[in-house]
Amino acid sequence: MNDINLSILKEGITAVTGSNGSGKTTFSKLLTGILTPTKGCVKLNGQLLTSLSLAQIGRQVGYVFQNPEKQLFCETVEEEISFGMHNLGFPLDQVALKTRDIMEYFELTRYSQSFPHNLSAGEKRRLAIAAVIALEPDLLILDEPTTGLDPYRKKLLGDYMERIIASNRGVVIISHDHKFIDRYATRLIRLREGQFTEG
Ligand SMILES: Nc1ncnc2c1ncn2[C@@H]1O[C@H](COP(=O)(O)OP(=O)(O)OP(=O)(O)O)[C@@H](O)[C@H]1O
Ligand SMILES: [Mg+2]
Repeated sequence: MNDINLSILKEGITAVTGSNGSGKTTFSKLLTGILTPTKGCVKLNGQLLTSLSLAQIGRQVGYVFQNPEKQLFCETVEEEISFGMHNLGFPLDQVALKTRDIMEYFELTRYSQSFPHNLSAGEKRRLAIAAVIALEPDLLILDEPTTGLDPYRKKLLGDYMERIIASNRGVVIISHDHKFIDRYATRLIRLREGQFTEG
C-alpha cells in the first residue's frame, strides 16, 4: 500500500471492499496492531499504535478474523463469549447477563455447552462475532462477516451493527457482499492496487 492517508471515524458503518488479494485483510490487521507497517504509521485516537500494547488496543478496538476458527479456543460456546469480558474485568453479574443476552440474540443458546469447533460454519461465524461484540469496543472491525450467514442471520448482524452505531460507536466491515454493503454501510472505501478510493 502506498501514500495512503486515511481516517476511520468512530461513527457509522464503513465498508472496505476490493478484489481478492487487494489487501483488505492486511489493512484491517494494520488497524488493529496485529501487523506493523514497514513504512508510515497508524494512530488510534491520536496515539501511535506502536506505543500501545495489544491489550490497550483491545480495550478500544474489537476484531473478528476472516476465518472465525482462528479466534475460537474455549471449551464451550458460553465460555467463548464470556472469556473476553472476564479478561477485561467486567463485573461478574454483568458478564453473566451479557453472555445470556448475546447468546440469545445470535441464536446460540441451545449450543451454550457445545464445543465451539463442532458448530457449523455459520454458527462459528456468529459465535466469533458475538464474543467480540460482547466487549462493546469503540470500533468494531469485521473481516468478511457475512460469509456463511443465511439471509436472516445477515439481517440480525446488520441490525446489531445499527444498534452499535446508534450508541456512538463505529463499525468497519470488510466485505464483498454488495447487497449487505448497500443496505448498511454509511461510507464506502475501495482498495485497489495499493490505493484507496472513496464512494
Ligand atoms: N503474511 C504475509 N506475507 C506475505 N504476503 C502476504 C501475507 N499476508 C498476505 N499477503 C499477500 O498480500 C496480499 C493481500 O492479502 P490480503 O489477505 O490482505 O487480501 P484480501 O484483500 O483480504 O483478500 P481476500 O478477498 O481474498 O480476503 C495478497 O497478495 C497476499 O498473498
Ligand atoms: Mg481478506
